[in-house]
Amino acid sequence: MGLLIRGGEIVTPDSRYKAEIYVEDQTVTTIGTGLPVPPGTEIIDATGKWIFPGFIDPHVHIYLPFMATFAKDTHETASVAALIGGTTTFIEMCCPSRSEDALGGYHLWKEKAEGKSACDYAFHMTVSRFDQNTETQLREIVRDGTTSFKIFLSYKNFFGVDDGEMYQTLTLANELGVVVAAHCENAELVSRLQQALLAEGKTGPEWHEPSRPESVEAEGTARFATFLENTGAAGYVVHLSCLPALKAAVDAKARGVRLSIEVVLPHLLLEKTFAERPGLAGMQYVMSPPLRHKRNQQALWNALTSGLIDAVGTDHCPFDNEQKLLGKDAFTQIPNGIPGIEERVSLMYTYGVNRGHMDLHRFVDALSTRPAKLFGLFPRKGTIAVGSDADLVIFDSTYRGVISGRSQHINCDYSGFEGFAVEGRPSVVTVRGKVQVRDGSFVGERGRGRLLRREPIVNSGSD
Ligand code: URP
Ligand code: ZN
Ligand code: ZN
Repeated sequence: MGLLIRGGEIVTPDSRYKAEIYVEDQTVTTIGTGLPVPPGTEIIDATGKWIFPGFIDPHVHIYLPFMATFAKDTHETASVAALIGGTTTFIEMCCPSRSEDALGGYHLWKEKAEGKSACDYAFHMTVSRFDQNTETQLREIVRDGTTSFKIFLSYKNFFGVDDGEMYQTLTLANELGVVVAAHCENAELVSRLQQALLAEGKTGPEWHEPSRPESVEAEGTARFATFLENTGAAGYVVHLSCLPALKAAVDAKARGVRLSIEVVLPHLLLEKTFAERPGLAGMQYVMSPPLRHKRNQQALWNALTSGLIDAVGTDHCPFDNEQKLLGKDAFTQIPNGIPGIEERVSLMYTYGVNRGHMDLHRFVDALSTRPAKLFGLFPRKGTIAVGSDADLVIFDSTYRGVISGRSQHINCDYSGFEGFAVEGRPSVVTVRGKVQVRDGSFVGERGRGRLLRREPIVNSGSD
């Protein structure tokens, strides 16, 4: 049975127009006006609403063993929440630790997601060590369609790689045409600063930011860029949080380094005073890189507006209150992470578009089209075009609401964005032509989501 959406206004990065969309066999088959309506067609009236391509969150954690515990969501809870918020595809960090091997981790993450996700998904494959087996395993993972890697320059002895391993990963990535995402903080400095602060009796969450100052992130960003420059690989800095790191990344771009930049929701909308709240209230806002001084936000917004920052993700990583309290005696034990998969689209529409930081086209670009292009999903995802997957978000800009941990759909007992007003939300969300969400409720098929196999996306530096 076909699906016809009529009355709405389609928005992509380079166009905005009123038209009807006809969907058959999971894809958009016709865009036009006065389209015929074959018998049995399901019709959705989108009058007065925007129609956006399904949004893509390029950075989430769902299954994540980390800091003596596990992130709280399952693929079922996270994907339903994502869809209610308008995200139809997410890219999850597949994160085996340094003591596990890459291929075993990859199979485990695939098993965790298989048949459980209500939206489509892909993985960034974390390289947490590079030994004699790693290269063969990574080649197999890329052949399986996972064509982006992730490295951590932080989290020493757990996920973190040293410079030699970074070099080996980037060299292989360049050969395979695989982009490498990186968490850029100097692990040694973080570890030394943490120990020094604890030795002075500074144990509360307010000391998390001083243990990972802006300069530590700027160093990691500059070093990653230098390694990209000297290996020819293409890179993607995840969750860039501050002006000194932005300068390092923009400098590298200006030198011709193949580098893209991601900002995540918490760094645009929250600031370090949140983590300075006493006790548990502060612990809820511990993530890495940390929430920063507010002065950084204008620079991040400006770079996002101009496209110097490419994409907006969430770094969704929920730990509940009980888990956060693992760090009640030492900030170094607070599980790092803030949830956000559900709120990204509405918050970015409200505080990005409606507050004048970005127009609708850049909004769609940063939250959907650019991630699709960077990670080999375009034009299957990230646009509304004949032949593309019918992942569509019919967005009601007249909706008014307030975010609350009590009404969210992720598996966590607080929201990092509690009390934030939202102006607009998805009213209908489809995944490959099936209506999965209506007006804030999941109405679809759990387990509909598919693993998206991708082709390598970047040319070898040698050609
Ligand atoms: O604090 C964070 N960001 N937690 C998730 C792991 C990571 O570094 O992305
Ligand atoms: Zn990270
Ligand atoms: Zn992350």
